[in-house]
Amino acid sequence: MNKWWKYAVGYQIYPRSFKDSNQDGIGDLRGIIEKIPYLYDLGVTLIWICPFYRSPMDDNGYDVSDYRDVDPSFGTLEDFKELIKIAHRYQIKVILDLVLNHTSDEHQWFQKAISSKDHPYQKYYIFKEGKMIDGKKCPPNNWKGFFSESAWSYVESIDKYYLRIFSKKMPDLNWSHPELRQELYQVARFWLDLGCDGFRLDAIAHLAKDLSFKDSTINIDHNGLAFDPSKFSNRPEIFEYLKEFKEEVLDHYDCMTVGEVGGGANVLEGLKYANYQNGYLNMVFNFDTCWSNGAYGSIDKKDDEIVTDVVNLKENFKRWYDGLHKKAWLPIYWLNHDHPRVLSQYGNVNYRYPSGSMLGLILLFLYGTPFIYQGEEIGMSNVDYTRLSQFKDVGAQNYFQEHKEFYEEETILHTLRRTSRCNARSPMQWDASAYAGFSEVRSEMDVNGNYKEVNVQRQQHEKDSVLASYKQLIKLRKQYSKDVVDGSLTFIDLKDPNTFSFLKNNRLLIITNFKEEAIKFTYPLNEWQILFNNYKEVEYQDGIFTLKPYQALLIELLKENNS
Ligand code: GLC
Ligand code: CA
Repeated sequence: MNKWWKYAVGYQIYPRSFKDSNQDGIGDLRGIIEKIPYLYDLGVTLIWICPFYRSPMDDNGYDVSDYRDVDPSFGTLEDFKELIKIAHRYQIKVILDLVLNHTSDEHQWFQKAISSKDHPYQKYYIFKEGKMIDGKKCPPNNWKGFFSESAWSYVESIDKYYLRIFSKKMPDLNWSHPELRQELYQVARFWLDLGCDGFRLDAIAHLAKDLSFKDSTINIDHNGLAFDPSKFSNRPEIFEYLKEFKEEVLDHYDCMTVGEVGGGANVLEGLKYANYQNGYLNMVFNFDTCWSNGAYGSIDKKDDEIVTDVVNLKENFKRWYDGLHKKAWLPIYWLNHDHPRVLSQYGNVNYRYPSGSMLGLILLFLYGTPFIYQGEEIGMSNVDYTRLSQFKDVGAQNYFQEHKEFYEEETILHTLRRTSRCNARSPMQWDASAYAGFSEVRSEMDVNGNYKEVNVQRQQHEKDSVLASYKQLIKLRKQYSKDVVDGSLTFIDLKDPNTFSFLKNNRLLIITNFKEEAIKFTYPLNEWQILFNNYKEVEYQDGIFTLKPYQALLIELLKENNS
């Protein structure tokens, strides 16, 4: 198995906040084109672009109203074609974010579906009659969706509910309907024929639902709703659908796929989705390494209770490696557009350079294809928003509604600054000019107030910057790709709560200190050389390293070391 995507260095672009080329405050495809030389210079060889299809933007493009067109706010199909051409000229592959689980309620299929009581297009979605409880019309069951609400919405004109596990403007598609599946395959072919190199498959774990639609029996919230992803995640029928998708579409192109498998997919399911022999996708994103600091659902916690659990983090990476190596591949990432900034989560804003570069070292040398999320390479951190209106995300707004009865506004805002998806979506910080060089006008998403200190331009001139480290580390990853991509991964001192260290192929030694204080790390060495160090010196005596705060070392072992 010698696939190009194993050697790729991925970079995720959230187009809305990456670069605005025409000064309307919205990032766009021409903005991405403008920055391709920057990505090339960084060493990126694969970009994943979040949705830019026509959309009313209830969920910033994940609510698609026309799969075959570019939303005018992002540009045109011609811009897309040019983007592909230029990216390919720079040897950068481009994958699109394909949203197959749901459409926008403004998609013509849905509009037709609700145009009459029993319209045939209702088969494209999941419509059900409501229940009468105490003389009141209620949803068909107690399922709660991902955005803090019932998973059902009511359409008065046809007196039916439709399932929507995300926002009410994102009705779920009915994958058990063969005609619908064929329509979606056509969509995939459309973009592959235009030259894209594959897809990140959005919310792919949710294609199949529990069609009995029985109530969940797990704990219910104060609204009588149960958040029970097992009702709509990783269900067996998905594998049949993906098999068909692969045979009818993917197998006919030289393309790669990475599926997003939320809803708690475990290693065995991961293998089923993506094993080399008879998997359906090339790799799948799991979420097991995302909230290893207890920040998820942390509204009742004080800041000092949010602490990175380094052991848990290592164990989660290890579990996936143990289950997958030799059998399947994996994408490695710290965050995406649905998460807080990793620097604020596992790093430390007071140690931006050391902790940012430390995270970069781990990301780039673990097992899998790394995906850098825009801004991570300069150590961008969580937003400093102080007003609810600044949190544009539908998930954040719903979260506020859900909690406002029980919490002070300031407490909710504090939690949003810690956990909300807006943290990853503030404009990319290119330079110190107004609006961080993202645009010349104010965009709907406010720029993080730290942009004068934290920006690309500044870090391009600093040797000791997160950006310079990412660049250097990507180079090293490519230089040692045999060890990094094909070599074994051995964790060292797995139970040590302070360090995150491992060996690649018994040749590369990665040592990192996750703490704000000096930490000792014992590892006797013979002949070795340092390939990367985010401090000037290394303190090493009698087989013991004394690591500085967030110190990160990449060491090449020159002789079999006899520890
Ligand atoms: C995925 C996306 C997220 C989106 C959701 C619905 O989880 O990453 O941003 O809101 O799917 O499409
Ligand atoms: Ca624009």
